Amino acid sequence: MEQIHNALNPKREAFDSRVYLASPTMHQEEQHYIEEAFRTNWVSTVGANLDRMEELLSELIGRPYAVALASGTAALHMAIRAAAVKLYGEPGPSRLSLKGKRVFCSDLTFAASVNPVIYEGGEPVFIDSEYETWNMDPEALERAFRLYPEVKLVVMVHLYGTPARIRQIRALCDAHNALLIEDAAESLGTVYRGRQTGSFGDLGVISFNGNKIITGSCGGALLCDDEQTMRRVRKWSTQSREPVAWYQHREIGYNYRLSNLIAGVIRGQIPWLGEHKARKTALYERYRDGLRGLPLRMNPYEQELAEPNHWLSCVLIDREAMCPQRRDAERAEYTHTGGKSCPTEILEAIAALNAEGRPIWKPMHLQPVYGAYPFVPAEDGRDVGADLFARGLCLPSDIKMKDWQQERIIEVIRDCFR
Ligand SMILES: Cc1ncc(COP(=O)(O)O)c(C=O)c1O
Repeated sequence: MEQIHNALNPKREAFDSRVYLASPTMHQEEQHYIEEAFRTNWVSTVGANLDRMEELLSELIGRPYAVALASGTAALHMAIRAAAVKLYGEPGPSRLSLKGKRVFCSDLTFAASVNPVIYEGGEPVFIDSEYETWNMDPEALERAFRLYPEVKLVVMVHLYGTPARIRQIRALCDAHNALLIEDAAESLGTVYRGRQTGSFGDLGVISFNGNKIITGSCGGALLCDDEQTMRRVRKWSTQSREPVAWYQHREIGYNYRLSNLIAGVIRGQIPWLGEHKARKTALYERYRDGLRGLPLRMNPYEQELAEPNHWLSCVLIDREAMCPQRRDAERAEYTHTGGKSCPTEILEAIAALNAEGRPIWKPMHLQPVYGAYPFVPAEDGRDVGADLFARGLCLPSDIKMKDWQQERIIEVIRDCFR
């Protein structure tokens, strides 16, 4: 492994306290709601915080129903099960609602987007990304529908808070009578064509994991338009008890309901979403301006239509400006080359400053656990996801970062290209 050529430069002294990729930022209200739950003994999976959190989310996203759940993954699982039951009816003896059914899934994402498809016995087919938004490529999706015309369910992600080209994706789903699940785990507060993400799919999913734009430490929510789905998900997520005097169960249940304490943190964070988004946007713009002139570009979005929450600021290095970089299953190496750089080198340089970056999500079709499932690449057979993974990285995007720290990070990135 190469030495970090700029780590010894005295100008580049490491920060005393670590600058994170994205960490929780708390205010006062969160504590108030936790204390209220504690004082009134609603330390449970029922209570005023849960009720209010659901109301606030439903207002914010503009959908009639929100169900607070233990995590974004739990919300995705419930969304997938609800969609599958709608499409294919009650699961038979296997209890797996997607048994043997193919599902189109975003390829460039966190594994949590896809794992619930497997929990339900489904078979993911991974759809490549487009360069314009890094999200599911509508053209690849169209081709996928030609290759697998029987598919009736699509799970798509708004990566790093950048909205996918949802109108095209929605139209393709409608044309094929397929349901759309919108994994908006990373994009709470993102607006597309004047509407919040999470409101476009048949079902929407939000995460309040500790690294998200607002957080409860954990937590998630499912959004939907019909009362029946809302009631079904509430029932499944509280062990599927039938409304009778004793414990009666007709269906498999889950312990997925959110705690009223955690809901208090989320309730207190929701009013701060706009402020967090403004700070994330300022970070994105400062990186964009500070890195201007280097052979790289920021994670792109449709300027006219999208107002991303800029959850993570990312860069993609130009192909000609990549120094040699080798990655095997577990390690990465590079060779420093004048005028060029690569994600591995930049991540090391940032780490030497005591700041946290991260490679772009490794695409699902390249993951050992998912490699055997089909992958539909972009139009000309290019593997866009693999290319974004090779040349892209996420920069420290914590809203508590100081301007001078961000400037230092920008300088260090500039040095990598010297
Ligand atoms: C795109 C995406 N989907 C799903 C999840 C899962 O959310 P959670 O961690 O709340 O289970 C996350 C993040 O954690 C995510 O980034």
